[in-house]
Amino acid sequence: MGFFDELAEYGDVVHCEFPRIDAVAVFHPEYIGDVLLGQGTYERWNFDELKELLDYEIAPRGLTFTRGEEWKQQRHFLQPMFGLDRLEGFSSAMVAATERLVDQWDDGEEIVLNEEFSRLTLSILTNSLFDFDLGENRQVITDAADELQTMADMSGFGAVEMLLPSWVPTHRNRRYTQAMDAFDATVETLIEQRRANPDEYEDLLTMMLEKEDDHEYSMSDEEIHDHLITFLIAGHETTAMALTFTWLLLGSNPEDYDRLETEVTTVLDGPPTADDLSDLPVTEHVAKEAMRMYPPAGMLFREATEETELGGYRIPEGTKVLLPQFTVHADDRWFDAPEEFRPERFSEDRSDQRPDFAYFPFGGGPHQCIGMHFAMMELKHIIPILARRVDFELLSSPEPEVNMELTLQPSEDVRMRVHKR
Ligand code: HEM
Repeated sequence: MGFFDELAEYGDVVHCEFPRIDAVAVFHPEYIGDVLLGQGTYERWNFDELKELLDYEIAPRGLTFTRGEEWKQQRHFLQPMFGLDRLEGFSSAMVAATERLVDQWDDGEEIVLNEEFSRLTLSILTNSLFDFDLGENRQVITDAADELQTMADMSGFGAVEMLLPSWVPTHRNRRYTQAMDAFDATVETLIEQRRANPDEYEDLLTMMLEKEDDHEYSMSDEEIHDHLITFLIAGHETTAMALTFTWLLLGSNPEDYDRLETEVTTVLDGPPTADDLSDLPVTEHVAKEAMRMYPPAGMLFREATEETELGGYRIPEGTKVLLPQFTVHADDRWFDAPEEFRPERFSEDRSDQRPDFAYFPFGGGPHQCIGMHFAMMELKHIIPILARRVDFELLSSPEPEVNMELTLQPSEDVRMRVHKR
């Protein structure tokens, strides 16, 4: 991240080279918009070079890796499942999972917050993807999500292991293969169950199967499988990190915490419902500001598919284009005192004064996060419930170092002591 801060000193479009890779980093919102909206000229960088080197692919037919027409069809098909009207049905499950988590904590208990949030968001996601009654299959799905996360861990020995091809029987590769085999078998069973009893379930998996009779487009089992893996990876650690950094920042900004507490105790008389969510501006601003300072996705990656021009510079075909959110979100041209936690900068009138794409935690353009409403809904359920029921006492550093892994992560566990109200 420091490297990108230094690059930004050279301008808004900066050439940089990595072994075998020619790239430009882009720091100006206008040019970021050109890239994200320039669908014919820029495609998602799929890391094909890296995949060849490592000899493994995760969910190649899932929404985060497909391109062109295949991606367009999938996105068109999946989009309605993530619309606000559909998501409202998941509200009570979000509340139940959060209440359960708080109930499990003892007053005075020391917890690792990032792990607790990771479990919480995974449980919400698995409930939404696969209905609530997962029984013994839950562990298989949790294990698969854990192993996928470990495979992406580049820190320490992980980086060395990661460079070994998937057929090398390292401990990590063996565990990964076992977990994924169990996951594949479980998903097959779940798909069969839903095909046999289509009216019994109301989960995202059923929605994916629903349109099979629609002759326009239907999904193969392989695609469904890859989408499920994609949602598991893209959808839980990102939200967990947004929550972790929200609480880290609230821990060292007591006035903002007081404002949040006032909102959730005056507007709500219990856990929020889907109808309450538009009446919680402080909650929303706090979450948005945390994602400004610590954007969970960290950086977006594109590739120029033809020669083009960006900000007055020639961009040859094949150039990789890097959009580092964490540097752009900390630019004092768009954010006063960017190092300070100031949730009120997300009030409507102040947001309107900023250029588009100065803030883009969920990306933008056609590939904008499909789970954005789902994630915001989760944050706006979980934050108020916690603020109403517990106080957290921060035991670790209020400003931990951060690592760029699959998501932006604190380099050390965030430890808190729970004080129940
Ligand atoms: C705070 C939480 C989240 C953050 C910050 C986040 C961030 C992002 C970003 C920045 C992108 C765009 C990537 C690009 O343009 O290259 C993206 C795409 C995506 N996200 Fe999220 N995400 C979050 C939660 C979720 C959830 C909950 C789901 C699913 C349930 C999800 C599924 C996806 C998928 C499938 C894509 C690919 C979309 C496409 O290319 O059409 N995300 N996300």
